[in-house]
Amino acid sequence: MPDEDVFNPCAARRTLLLGASAMGIAVLAGCGGDSDATPGAGGSPGVSSAPAAPATTGGNPFDDSGSGGGAAPQVPANALVAAGEVPVGGGVIVKDTVLVLQPAKGSFKAYDAVCPHEGAIVDPPFDGNPIIMCPRHNSKFKVADGSRVDGPAPRGLKSVKVGVKSGYVVRA
Ligand code: FES
Repeated sequence: MPDEDVFNPCAARRTLLLGASAMGIAVLAGCGGDSDATPGAGGSPGVSSAPAAPATTGGNPFDDSGSGGGAAPQVPANALVAAGEVPVGGGVIVKDTVLVLQPAKGSFKAYDAVCPHEGAIVDPPFDGNPIIMCPRHNSKFKVADGSRVDGPAPRGLKSVKVGVKSGYVVRA
């Protein structure tokens, strides 16, 4: 016959553990919920509206400043885009006006992104495609020099002189 007034250490310990467990779950639940809020994330691939910071760990292979890392690099005033944001064998549209390309690793080119036919913004090429397409009427231009290959555009894309400074593709 059980005596309910007798202290049972096992039952007391079980009650204590259950209480601690419930508090632990409450604390863990309070830590979640922000995992998708990544600063600076978002946007469309191939489109860059503002220069983003280049990678700062391990040095940037395009950094010609000779600083060797350490302090965060200053964004040059004439920066178009961080060099690391331009895919090798592809390109990005910057500020809806400039197509910045990296046909080979470390080699950058840029053209006016506005099609000379009726002013549509051309599509950046990808995966090493040597042709830049205009999505409106399918004019085609060479990545190598911006010249017109096909379509209604009356001429090729205007070249924009660029260089690399402090990890950014800049207007030269
Ligand atoms: S606007 Fe580019 S081909 Fe017509």
